[in-house]
Amino acid sequence: MTDVPTDPYETAFEGRLAALQPDLARTLARVYAPEVVPGVSARLVEIARAAHDARPEELRRLDERRLAEPDWFQRPTMLGYAAYADRFGATLRGVAERAAYLRDLGVGYLHLMPLLTPRPEPNDGGYAVMDYRSVRPDLGDVDDLRHLATTLREQGISLCLDLVLNHVAREHAWARAARAGDAEKRAWFHVHPDREVPDAYEATLPEVFPDFAPGSFTWDDELDGWVWTTFNHYQWDLDWSNPEVLCEFADIILALANLGVEVFRLDAIAFIWKRLGTDCQNQPEVHELTRALRTVARIAAPAVAFKAEAIVGPADLPAYLGVGEHAGRVSDLAYHNSLMVQVWSMLASRETRLATRALQQLPQPPSTTAWITYVRCHDDIGWAIADEDARAVGLDPHLHRRFLSDWYAGMFPGSWARGLVFQQNEVTGDRRISGSLASLAGLEAGDPGAAARILLAHAIVLSYGGLPVIWMGDELGLLNDQGWADDPDHAADNRWVHRPPMPWDVVERGTDPHGITAGLRHLVEVRRTLPHLHAAVPTEVWDPRDPRVLLVVRRHPEGPLLAAHNVSDEEAWVAADVLHWLGLHVPGLRDALTGTAPDLQDGAVRLGPYASAWLHDGLGG
Ligand code: GLC
Repeated sequence: MTDVPTDPYETAFEGRLAALQPDLARTLARVYAPEVVPGVSARLVEIARAAHDARPEELRRLDERRLAEPDWFQRPTMLGYAAYADRFGATLRGVAERAAYLRDLGVGYLHLMPLLTPRPEPNDGGYAVMDYRSVRPDLGDVDDLRHLATTLREQGISLCLDLVLNHVAREHAWARAARAGDAEKRAWFHVHPDREVPDAYEATLPEVFPDFAPGSFTWDDELDGWVWTTFNHYQWDLDWSNPEVLCEFADIILALANLGVEVFRLDAIAFIWKRLGTDCQNQPEVHELTRALRTVARIAAPAVAFKAEAIVGPADLPAYLGVGEHAGRVSDLAYHNSLMVQVWSMLASRETRLATRALQQLPQPPSTTAWITYVRCHDDIGWAIADEDARAVGLDPHLHRRFLSDWYAGMFPGSWARGLVFQQNEVTGDRRISGSLASLAGLEAGDPGAAARILLAHAIVLSYGGLPVIWMGDELGLLNDQGWADDPDHAADNRWVHRPPMPWDVVERGTDPHGITAGLRHLVEVRRTLPHLHAAVPTEVWDPRDPRVLLVVRRHPEGPLLAAHNVSDEEAWVAADVLHWLGLHVPGLRDALTGTAPDLQDGAVRLGPYASAWLHDGLGG
């Protein structure tokens, strides 16, 4: 008898390699010239093999677990939380010490804002990375990162880190080499000797930060050229048409995965491929490159999941979870930017027609993926509303976006919102909005409906289907940080108004004057019990009979769930025919949020101002 390899992990690796390598090669062939594909493919396999060889035993076991239970992030028991490490726990060790707080909230997934070594301030909150292989020194070091990932994992929390792959800091070694005249590294960036090519691109490029970083190219004396800088002048876009960039990032991902990072937030992923005559976002190659990276990760470290940060219009969103041939093969998670925008639009306009229409246009995501549903994050809110959706419900798209900006900047008569205008674009008239959830929802202004409105917003994202993520401090109803501009490095960027430090004294006192913490906890607890809210169950948005009510339906083998949300400050109704068509029987109808029968009048369900009801058939279970 001949010896056969006995290492089960090795056998599993070889199996994945054999299954996935052909797909990797085909994907690369759709991006790069045919003559380079075999070489790039072979290098990626080498990178995967080396990373797998180095993968700690504990993480190999995690790989097996995730392969056995691939829906771990789709379950209704899963809840996410996002925070700045320093503002939440001072250091990585400090964050690890706060794991119990997160567990207690029900959190199973923690996205920590950029913590790899950035350039010195200003660095866009860490999104200008100088070294992907070390940790920001004041937060700790690589051992602390490993310790944090391990501690969190032991408590059932998966760690998600940003992978900033559109750009690096001007001070990154690759950019420094390019500046020093290294021709090979210069080819990792988009550099042009004069304005000819930049002007040609800029003819169709929108500006991301028109106020403090106008244009998309920056002149650099040392480079003696114009370098592509979509965001700030110190963030240099990488040229992903160069396969060296892909190979390097594959290696970075796997090195971080071997420290215990489970989810990678693909920062600004929409921008990585440039094409003349377009807005240089959402190009097909973006999805091919994501697929290539994911395939390498599947081979070497299958526990790894990707989360796409593509804050794009609704028509471009579905591709990030994969449509057609890419279904289930690109990112596992993606921000549901459209739902977030529609939540704010509904609250300001007190009606649901636009939201219903916009959400109905989105196809179901692949059943192995999940939307990240959220009310607020660390960024501004841009009014990503499709013109055709607005027109379809009789709204002028431009005027509606203007209304929303005015409303949330507190400039519209009667507005309860206290936001700030972020990036006023003179050309397009766009004005984005900064502000904390609570301040935008009226708590800062002392509006009596604020707390109910805040809980309604949470109720919508918790019952929509997907992985809901809470932005740090929103569980406490934190207001805008009035001192946000005191730090001179932040003063030009008012997104810092909604990035306050965590007030642990408030947490410890346990005061909850508006019932926001208790209300949110209740929603999370009820959500955990509802199998309908597994992300694999399709989400249907039904036409509102009462235009003040958003109707979200999930049909599960155990019976349907109807989440009805009244976005107005008046009482509103779920019409009897909705219950009828869904097969929900009035005797036995239960609201999961109260555990009792809903308030029924003539067969219709009454919803109080800003109330939600999560209705299901109590008889069915
Ligand atoms: C992402 C981040 C944002 C940052 C930008 C550039 O959109 O969320 O904060 O400014 O990328 O890295």
